[in-house]
Amino acid sequence: MVKNLFILVGYQMGVSMEDSSESLKKFLTQVYEETLCGIYSGSLHPGGLNLTRRVGELAEITGESIVLDVASGMGASAISIAKEFGCPVIGIDLSKRFVRESKFRASEILTYGDSLDFLVGDAEFLPFKDSSFNVVLCECSFNLFPDKRKVLQEIYRILKVGGKFVLTDFVLKKDLPKHQRNKFNFAFCIAGAETSEKIVKWMEEVNFTDIYVEDHSDKLLSFGIQLLLSSSDFVSENLENLENLFYEDAFRYVLIAAVKSSK
Ligand SMILES: C[S@@+](CC[C@H](N)C(=O)[O-])C[C@H]1O[C@@H](n2cnc3c(N)ncnc32)[C@H](O)[C@@H]1O
Repeated sequence: MVKNLFILVGYQMGVSMEDSSESLKKFLTQVYEETLCGIYSGSLHPGGLNLTRRVGELAEITGESIVLDVASGMGASAISIAKEFGCPVIGIDLSKRFVRESKFRASEILTYGDSLDFLVGDAEFLPFKDSSFNVVLCECSFNLFPDKRKVLQEIYRILKVGGKFVLTDFVLKKDLPKHQRNKFNFAFCIAGAETSEKIVKWMEEVNFTDIYVEDHSDKLLSFGIQLLLSSSDFVSENLENLENLFYEDAFRYVLIAAVKSSK
């Protein structure tokens, strides 16, 4: 592994993951690696790489920005941001398989190693020193984190003053019916969803400012169709559940951007 980029951002060795909710994380990793992997055509979030471009623009990424993609999946967004904005990007994800795949995909890009790299790690225990990044993004993964406030604290800690955080994810419009609080919907970022107001409140509590919410629910239909057309066993086995989700209209898909204005 080329270390230059990790030196640049102050990679911290030996960060412990002991306190994390291991069983939940194991379940998710298994679902993603064994079943959802097959439906990845690049990125696994509503809006695809067009929405990633919007994230990059709102975060005002330039060639000088140092960017972290939290829960980077198969690396599509990190690769796209590195290519489009010409900046260094690190992706971090729980799945060893996804990180391996991301590195392989990135190896086709000439500057790989110096400006684009991936590592296995947990969003709740980010292995970087304070004030390492100008931009942190997190697409369609926030709802998978058992301790969301801890993740927000970690992201705040590793951002430089003036740095931007942008997440996209499902948020609840109303309480989920009980039958929707199941493992399938947890893996699909629904059962772990909160209202956008609650996320904004948590962001304010860790000192983020300039919080901005943008609705992207118009991307949900084509994402749902993409899932339904996929040949994933996990999706086929839960087809009825997936259809109900879309009919019950219980959630929106939003982008939330925020700034670290002070230490
Ligand atoms: C829906 S996918 C989104 C992947 C990518 N951000 C994208 O938009 O294509 C969710 C990703 O979150 C990762 N993940 C789940 N919990 C995590 C955690 N605690 N820390 C890091 N990654 C996590 C999974 O391994 C999976 O790759």
